[in-house]
Amino acid sequence: MHPIERFVAACRCQPVDRPPVWLMRQAGRYMPSYQAVRRRYSFMDLCRTPEAACEVTMQPIDELGVDAAILFSDILVPLEPMGVRVGFEHGPVVEPAVRSVAAIDALRSEGVADEVPYVYEAVRLIRRELGGRLPLLGFAGSPWTLASYLVEGGSSRNLHELKHLLYAEPAALERLLDKLTDVVIAYLGRQIDAGVDAVQVFDSWGGVLDEVTWRATSGRTLARIVEALAPTGVPVLLYVHGGPHLLGALSEMGATGLSVDWRVPLSEVRRIVGPGTALQGNVDPGILRAPVPVIREAVAQCLASHGPGPGHIMNLGHGITPDATVAAARAFVEAAQEFGPAYGGEPA
Ligand code: CP3
Repeated sequence: MHPIERFVAACRCQPVDRPPVWLMRQAGRYMPSYQAVRRRYSFMDLCRTPEAACEVTMQPIDELGVDAAILFSDILVPLEPMGVRVGFEHGPVVEPAVRSVAAIDALRSEGVADEVPYVYEAVRLIRRELGGRLPLLGFAGSPWTLASYLVEGGSSRNLHELKHLLYAEPAALERLLDKLTDVVIAYLGRQIDAGVDAVQVFDSWGGVLDEVTWRATSGRTLARIVEALAPTGVPVLLYVHGGPHLLGALSEMGATGLSVDWRVPLSEVRRIVGPGTALQGNVDPGILRAPVPVIREAVAQCLASHGPGPGHIMNLGHGITPDATVAAARAFVEAAQEFGPAYGGEPA
């Protein structure tokens, strides 16, 4: 099967010759070739330079043999034209943190997607470089996850400031989420116009909420995004981290597929979600520190857990960490491609 046809069919729960495999954060610091490019650019300059973003996007294609490419960028890139400074020091930094109703009202949303032309230029360059060989994924952060970085000013374990807004100033949070939803819809729409074959929305911090609150905040925005993108016909994958309690609600968002972490086996996720929604994942990225036979066994178990039915995209349950090795990531991909032909077809 042609890789683009295979990927889109897997998203649509149609039979494939084997499940496609790619890895979240497949381009990154664990790769010596990425580190070499990073010595020439700051992280944000790398995201802003289409030729460099294209170069690092291609590294895992060449070095791992994955079945899909993902645009190299970061979920925080479209926040800058909203009126904050985004930097990466020991982690992401957003300045000034957006903590008052006045600061939320001052954020720009209209026209923001037009202010990052380098992202769409990178998509066009990558497509030219791929020459139709592999599908290309675009992505964005979910409004809730983007709000967490805006309000906390960076990464935060407990999201105290965001929760303060949620419970003490719910109307202000709603306004912030609405602005971010407008930005995400326009931003993904522009990536689709530039030629991506599928998009993934990262709700990396959705799992900190209970189901009722998630539905009223993050879920509401995700349903709006899926609905707005539906006319494009491009598959929309939703990723949630730490959200086994949200699987039922997630399955009602109308997304083409759900990308899930490793906390619940795919057999159980499939039981909760039902047929007709693709599942992506879900091996613990920590496996990439293990010896190759252990990696291969984890891949075999993950494929078997989903079983022979259609609608599985093989992946990790979260991004590759900097302590992984290229050899381990390659072993993961090779095992998925070797064991894959027993899966991805009609239900047994
Ligand atoms: O998957 C890919 O290869 C595409 C590129 C990609 C990056 N970030 C590159 C990156 C994608 C899809 C992301 C998404 C992203 N960024 C998410 C959602 C997924 C998730 O992990 O939950 C989030 C929450 C972010 C925010 C972010 N960016 C953090 C928390 C960090 C620092 C921590 C870390 O892992 O480095 C980043 C920086 C970042 N984004 C790097 C890369 C390769 C490392 C930066 C460097 O080179 O120093």
